[in-house]
Amino acid sequence: MTEITELGYVTVGVSDIAAWDEFASQILGLEVVRPDDPKIRYLRMDYWHHRIKLVEDSSDDVLTTGLRVAGVLEFRAMHKILSDAGVDVRIGTADEAEACKVLEVMFLEDPNGYPIEIFHGPLVAYDMPFHPGRRMHGGYKTAHGGFGHMMLNRSVEFEDIHAFYTLLGLRGGIEYKMPIPMIPEPVELMFLHCNERQHTLAFGGPSEKRVNHMMFETERMEDVGLAYDLVKQAGIPVIIEPGSHANDQMYSFYMKNPSGFMSEIGWGGRSPTGQSEYYQRDAFGHAPVMENMKGFMVPA
Ligand SMILES: [Fe+2]
Repeated sequence: MTEITELGYVTVGVSDIAAWDEFASQILGLEVVRPDDPKIRYLRMDYWHHRIKLVEDSSDDVLTTGLRVAGVLEFRAMHKILSDAGVDVRIGTADEAEACKVLEVMFLEDPNGYPIEIFHGPLVAYDMPFHPGRRMHGGYKTAHGGFGHMMLNRSVEFEDIHAFYTLLGLRGGIEYKMPIPMIPEPVELMFLHCNERQHTLAFGGPSEKRVNHMMFETERMEDVGLAYDLVKQAGIPVIIEPGSHANDQMYSFYMKNPSGFMSEIGWGGRSPTGQSEYYQRDAFGHAPVMENMKGFMVPA
């Protein structure tokens, strides 16, 4: 089957890399790896070489999204599918693949103009088990579900986004028509899945950036609570209070990270149900913290 199998990695441009060192390790509990280049950090949460690459720049946004296919045959088939569909796609050189820590990579953009890297063969370091940056009750839940999910803003119609990601093998559709404070019409949100994680990519989240939020899932509920306590102690703005989503049924909360978009920490998400349905509100909680949303989620 030629389809994306998981959200493999993301590269994020960050203006304050020192603040991210502290946030990633002491708040999120990720392992921060410092390569020779002082403008780069690798963030680990499992055996992979990295799941997040931070690059020092002024964008404070997602620079590229790494989507995995199973192997070399699927990689070639995906390249043919995209080329036949008229998508502008370029297979990277051996040096480019090496820089991405994968066997092969191709470069393209989605209909929003967001850069995508489709790859196979990530570097997996079984000699380097995940070493959290601070105490954790358990690890991060990544296997068979990618490293998490990401909600992005959109600049084109849902139809165009749906058609493109269907080509990549993702499935899903509109799952929320959600009233958001200070936004006049209910906000429609599209959720797409490709594995046992209920959604891997989502579109329509209000943001001045490409990215609205990025979610990591812990293996134990206690780690959501621990992260919440650490966020409160550090004085980091909570954007959405703890609660349970209607679609993935994840128990989670959202905080503002040093790049000004949201990080979500969750536990207990379900798998896709295989049939479409939509929601107007979450199961419980998830109250927005209005004063912390102003200027990036709602008008200042
Ligand atoms: Fe989320």
